[in-house]
Amino acid sequence: MFVTAAATALLVGIPAALGGQVPALDGVWGAVSSNSSQRAIVATSTVPAVVTPGKLRVAENSGVCETTPGVYQASGYGDIASNESIWFWFFESRNGPDNAPLTIWLNGGPGSSSMIGLFQEHGPCRLTNDSSGVTYNDYSWNNVSNILYIDQPVGVGFSYGTLDIGTSQEAAADVWSFLQIFFADSRFSKYQEHDFAIWTESYGGHYGPTFAAYFLVQNAAIANGSISGLPINLKFLGVGDGLTDPLSQYPGYLEYAASNPYHPLVSTSDIQDSTTRWQESGGCKDQITACYDGGSDDTCSAAQSYCNSYILSPLAGNYDVYYVLSEDPDAYPPDPTPYLNNSTLMALIGAESDWSETNYDVYQNFADTGDWMRNSRPDLETVIDSGVRTIVFDGDADYILNFDGVEAMVKNLQTKFSNEFNQQQFTNWTVHGEPAGIYKNAGTFSYVRIFGAGHEVAAYEYGNLARGEAALQMFSQIMGNQSLFST
Ligand SMILES: *[C@@H]1O[C@H](CO)[C@@H](O)[C@H](O)[C@H]1NC(C)=O
Ligand SMILES: *[C@@H]1O[C@H](CO)[C@@H](O)[C@H](O)[C@H]1NC(C)=O
Ligand SMILES: *[C@@H]1O[C@H](CO)[C@@H](O)[C@H](O)[C@H]1NC(C)=O
Ligand SMILES: *[C@@H]1O[C@H](CO)[C@@H](O)[C@H](O)[C@H]1NC(C)=O
Ligand SMILES: *[C@@H]1O[C@H](CO)[C@@H](O)[C@H](O)[C@H]1NC(C)=O
Ligand SMILES: *[C@@H]1O[C@H](CO)[C@@H](O)[C@H](O)[C@H]1NC(C)=O
Ligand SMILES: *[C@@H]1O[C@H](CO)[C@@H](O)[C@H](O)[C@H]1NC(C)=O
Ligand SMILES: *[C@@H]1O[C@H](CO)[C@@H](O)[C@H](O)[C@H]1NC(C)=O
Ligand SMILES: *[C@@H]1O[C@H](CO)[C@@H](O)[C@H](O)[C@H]1NC(C)=O
Repeated sequence: MFVTAAATALLVGIPAALGGQVPALDGVWGAVSSNSSQRAIVATSTVPAVVTPGKLRVAENSGVCETTPGVYQASGYGDIASNESIWFWFFESRNGPDNAPLTIWLNGGPGSSSMIGLFQEHGPCRLTNDSSGVTYNDYSWNNVSNILYIDQPVGVGFSYGTLDIGTSQEAAADVWSFLQIFFADSRFSKYQEHDFAIWTESYGGHYGPTFAAYFLVQNAAIANGSISGLPINLKFLGVGDGLTDPLSQYPGYLEYAASNPYHPLVSTSDIQDSTTRWQESGGCKDQITACYDGGSDDTCSAAQSYCNSYILSPLAGNYDVYYVLSEDPDAYPPDPTPYLNNSTLMALIGAESDWSETNYDVYQNFADTGDWMRNSRPDLETVIDSGVRTIVFDGDADYILNFDGVEAMVKNLQTKFSNEFNQQQFTNWTVHGEPAGIYKNAGTFSYVRIFGAGHEVAAYEYGNLARGEAALQMFSQIMGNQSLFST
């Protein structure tokens, strides 16, 4: 069994990049441990807590992070079972919360905490560079939406309990259960009829489409009486720097490492070696294809291991995989651990489990099923065609989910808007007249490549634009049910 002690031992081999969201083992990004034939069942709670299955446990207005007077916040757990507690942190919108939509934010991994998004990217506060504290964020996404940061699956971040999730589909069902509990709570039931959005990044290229499609199926099942529950009023989906369709994504590593807006990442002979690994018989392309073609968990898991060992990892060269303008490791964004793993702070916010950025047991459960290499593009197509306004975005300085691969995925989409999308050229996207990226809209679908941004798009600045300024304009436009436009 892959238990915590083994995971700790494996941490020694992790590449040094800080602020990591995509797990690595033995120096390989997204590696698969050879000793991973069983699913871990590990209770991560260190404090005996009174769990309340089917209910929330809530600490209100802790004063942590959001300091705007009168803006309500709440943090705590939704106990989806006696041994499964999902951590959430809710912030009311700073502006017009009674009319604002409700957004859930999910970071990736798999196994990484959504406190990354809250404290490094677009929460009401951001970590200082020395990780000792936080500062007010003027470009917080709760300027325009009520927002709910969720640590999932169970075991991730401050969440704790039995680890029994190894696929995006299973994760969707648990988050749906959590939301049922959230909306049943008298403090939050008023939000059930607000427009609902899922925003996510990184492994969220799987989570976002899978969760959205699952929520739509559940809504249909509620509507026809085959299950009981509260419908989720899903209207918007945002996927940043996401892993959605690996067969489209992996050639992107070859392209981006050779040529990107900044500098080549490795030598041409390294590119050539990995190109051979991609295209040779039985190589990465064939293995992903076998996974897509009804492949078993072992087939998909083997594809993940092969492609990440021979393509994703070596082609990063000496650069930070999340931000190629820096050599590895980039000290930015700052590590949340010193700030969050603090018993005084944890008592204020109602957290009962030590925080770490990534739970490697959860990661390993996903690696065992090969979920990484499965194709979430069909779910994304379903969601777009069902009328959910959707944006895919990507920072042009991110290698690990680079824009070459993401734009190939977008180009391969087969939706009612795809012809219109693919016939267009990109248009410059400006924020208050400042260049910020290039974009296309078609129907209720949009894509934007954001200049100067690494993997965690909202954490970066560009030109005369402040950190997170371009990301907030994107978020505001989409959440206002508008296509992207320049200002
Ligand atoms: C994997 O298992 C083998 C055989 O039990 C053991 O020798 C090796 O140390 C294990 N490796 C890891 C990374 O746990
Ligand atoms: C967690 O709860 C489920 C359902 O109640 C049960 O089947 C399972 O054995 C429990 N796991 C642990 C580790 O207690
Ligand atoms: C924090 O670090 C980033 C990246 O190195 C740097 O651009 C920024 O100026 C630093 N912020 C402060 C307040 O020093
Ligand atoms: C965010 O909302 C606050 C509160 O209304 C406001 O003071 C601030 O200017 C807003 N930020 C931006 C970038 O609009
Ligand atoms: C109800 O809707 C669900 C979800 O679309 C579907 O799977 C199920 O077959 C439907 N049941 C009936 C009785 O129509
Ligand atoms: C822990 O958090 C408390 C409350 O926010 C703070 O006063 C204290 O300085 C923190 N301790 C450390 C070591 O950062
Ligand atoms: C968090 O704090 C606990 C208790 O001080 C410590 O045992 C644990 O190693 C810390 N975790 C991390 C990731 O620093
Ligand atoms: C787009 O911006 C670039 C510089 O950022 C400029 O060279 C180009 O002319 C612009 N294109 C249009 C159509 O405005
Ligand atoms: C968003 O706009 C589209 C058309 O542009 C419309 O069909 C849809 O109902 C709107 N959604 C919301 C939540 O207002």
